[in-house]
Amino acid sequence: MIVSLALVATLLAGCASSPARPQAAEPMAQLIQGQLDFAAKQYRQLAASVPAERMPKTFEDGKLVTSDTEWWTSGFFPGTLWLIYEGTRDPWVRGEAERRTEVLEPRKFFTGNHDIGFIIFDSFGNAYRITGDAKYKAVIDTAAQTATRRYREKIGAIQSWDSSKRFAAPVIIDNLMNLELLLWAADHGGDARLRKIALQHADTTLRNHFRADHSSYHVVDYDPQTGQVRARKTAQGAADESAWARGQGWAVYGYTMLYRFTRDPRYLAQAKGVADFIVNHPNLPADKVPYWDFNAPGIPAALRDASAGAIIASALLELGQYVDGDDRHRYVGAAETMLRSLSAPPYRAEPGANGGFLLQHSVGALPMKSEVDVPLTYADYYFVEALLRYRRWYLNGY
Ligand code: GLY
Repeated sequence: MIVSLALVATLLAGCASSPARPQAAEPMAQLIQGQLDFAAKQYRQLAASVPAERMPKTFEDGKLVTSDTEWWTSGFFPGTLWLIYEGTRDPWVRGEAERRTEVLEPRKFFTGNHDIGFIIFDSFGNAYRITGDAKYKAVIDTAAQTATRRYREKIGAIQSWDSSKRFAAPVIIDNLMNLELLLWAADHGGDARLRKIALQHADTTLRNHFRADHSSYHVVDYDPQTGQVRARKTAQGAADESAWARGQGWAVYGYTMLYRFTRDPRYLAQAKGVADFIVNHPNLPADKVPYWDFNAPGIPAALRDASAGAIIASALLELGQYVDGDDRHRYVGAAETMLRSLSAPPYRAEPGANGGFLLQHSVGALPMKSEVDVPLTYADYYFVEALLRYRRWYLNGY
């Protein structure tokens, strides 16, 4: 039986400052089951409004916004359904997960940008992990081969976006997340080249994407002829030199996942460096749901990004598996605070509200004025993933 960190904190705070009887925090087991049961009901409502060939992105001005299945977020809706099924064993949710996953199959050939890992591994990856059905693995294997088509030998990385007026050969920090598709496929009968490409990309990113304080740039633009860095920029952050919150989330999640596949201490050190940047940052609020950028103008009035909070919580829970002592206590404690915050107002939606999405108050791309202070499909995905990770790894004591 574990003693919840938040429970201890609440009791201590209560003793020190208030004669009133302290309110005990809800036990995490109960909180997690409550959120999963809520998710199963809420996603029935969401699913009812999403056309069969579309995927939900957000809910804005009282309307559901959907995407086609090439948009980078299209794997998250089926993926979240699989995770909710894993957490509840609700047969309707499983059926819906199967239907929404099948729609994505043609995307195993998608080469329009680097996002095939997000699209296929969050959907088919979970489908295979949970069911063991070989038809899902075949799609993952094909998609992993497809992902290598954007690998640029000269750069030593998978190019994220095509060249444009602004960028020659951009690689964004988010791209680390796509490596899980390649590494998993390599470990499950795929050819060695998949692993080689993924690790080369990870090493190039390690060399070029980080500042001395371990925070990450968003975009590194390369010269495709020489492989040299042309510029370090942002697309979705507040400034080129700022720390865009979701980018820090991708970085800590990415190097933690890379350590899972490799046990390379350099990746663990990088994951810890980014985690420490986040959890020790003076601009991380007390509820530990980050502002949309750690250097956002107007803090403390700046908007929060629940999606960054969910991604970081999920990453810190995995990182907690690879460290011990104070580090584990700090990372898991921060993740628990994030999960408790996200499970309550103002982040967690009321039942039946928010168009069926679980979380409110995320930020997609503020500089483009796109998806500002709204629900986002990937915020829900990483929230549910983090709930399951906490339950799997930390409810039997740590
Ligand atoms: N991968 C795009 C984003 O994080 O917004």
